[in-house]
Amino acid sequence: MATTESEKRIKIDQLRPGIFIRLQASWFEHPFLFNSLKIKNLGQIEALKKAGITEVFYIPQKSDSLPLPLNEPPGKASPPPKPATPPQEDPVVKLLWQIKKDRMEKLKENQENLRKCTKDYNATVKDIPDIMEKIIGGSQEAVSNARTLIAKMAGKFINKGDSFVHLMAIKETEESIYYHSLNASVLALMLGAKAGFSPSEMRDLGLGVLLHDIGKSRIDNKVLKKVEPLSKAEQNLIRLHPQYGVEIVAKSNDFPKNAAMIILQHHEQCDGSGYPQHRTREKISKLARVANIVNVYDNLCNNIDPAKAMNPYQALSYMYSRCKKGLDLELLTLFIRSLGVYPPGTVVMLSNGIIALIVSVNPQNPMKPSLMLYDPDIPKNEAVAVEMEDLMDLTVEKSLRFEDLPAEVCDYFNYSGKANYFVEQVKEGDKSA
Ligand SMILES: [Fe+2]
Repeated sequence: MATTESEKRIKIDQLRPGIFIRLQASWFEHPFLFNSLKIKNLGQIEALKKAGITEVFYIPQKSDSLPLPLNEPPGKASPPPKPATPPQEDPVVKLLWQIKKDRMEKLKENQENLRKCTKDYNATVKDIPDIMEKIIGGSQEAVSNARTLIAKMAGKFINKGDSFVHLMAIKETEESIYYHSLNASVLALMLGAKAGFSPSEMRDLGLGVLLHDIGKSRIDNKVLKKVEPLSKAEQNLIRLHPQYGVEIVAKSNDFPKNAAMIILQHHEQCDGSGYPQHRTREKISKLARVANIVNVYDNLCNNIDPAKAMNPYQALSYMYSRCKKGLDLELLTLFIRSLGVYPPGTVVMLSNGIIALIVSVNPQNPMKPSLMLYDPDIPKNEAVAVEMEDLMDLTVEKSLRFEDLPAEVCDYFNYSGKANYFVEQVKEGDKSA
């Protein structure tokens, strides 16, 4: 990348803690995890020297200190003394390279997992509109197809191995309403697995959540997509969709009762403020309480009005502070423990000023999500993904709203501001050593 006006080339001896630098080499040519960093201590300067780096770019607007003055008068600078140990043989540099090589291996593994997940997601998503339309039309075969699809997804959470919930990049289309149902199913199965549901409960849960809003097919799209506040009559009309949904699936002879209960009760609230029957916690099925949580989360993140959409971090905070009377608190806590504080789809700013997108999480290990780093020096198809633990002493400074992100950042991440997920499982034997 060319030097920008605000960057200044300085000698390594001019570094001191507080200076923000960019390294000249590409990410694959130096042993450090980041191309840009703020110097925190003398040890980092020593490591840069040991790696044979003699000059860096100083970025004044991100620095807390000024570079040290050069010792030699201009024009009389002597070449840097030859290091006693060549850079590539220095133990510190060797260790840094080893850490980075391990990181690159893990990166390759994650990319392969994501590729498989995306392929699987596309294959699944393609079938959803047809399945839904046929179920609305009363097809018994379509219900069987939905059950097969859900059983496969549930297996990815139940079977032995690590499950990864990945952020999927999708374009909003007319059929997006169906994708939200699939999204809610993925999240419900994740939560059901965390809550220890049996395999048969998991299958009923996934099916019920996939079809939870099927009753909306009987409501005019103009009302469903209305961004302005709804009239009382329109609200009443929308409140009929759980009952409509039950009527639709009742056309299928052996539709599971537990799944039908989810369709009927997914808008009931634990404090009795929900609809259609104003049930309280004990009288709402546990599966429907899961459905309510994932439905609220999906609606907050993927609101039909983009101006009202929250990032996943904000959505969880909002649910915890504002909706906990209506939601099952025990399940909500488990939901947050599965997705982590910064769920996939959250864009964050790290304490070194770097912007990152959370791209996946293992619900069994939610404190270590994977992040993709925004670095215009690296082509987006080679973007660096790291795990939270790789950030060492870096912290997440804040989460960023989609509307506040520069267009080039969204383009780099292929990020539409939506939080759509799918699951991929890495079985024990599939992991690289
Ligand atoms: Fe609904």
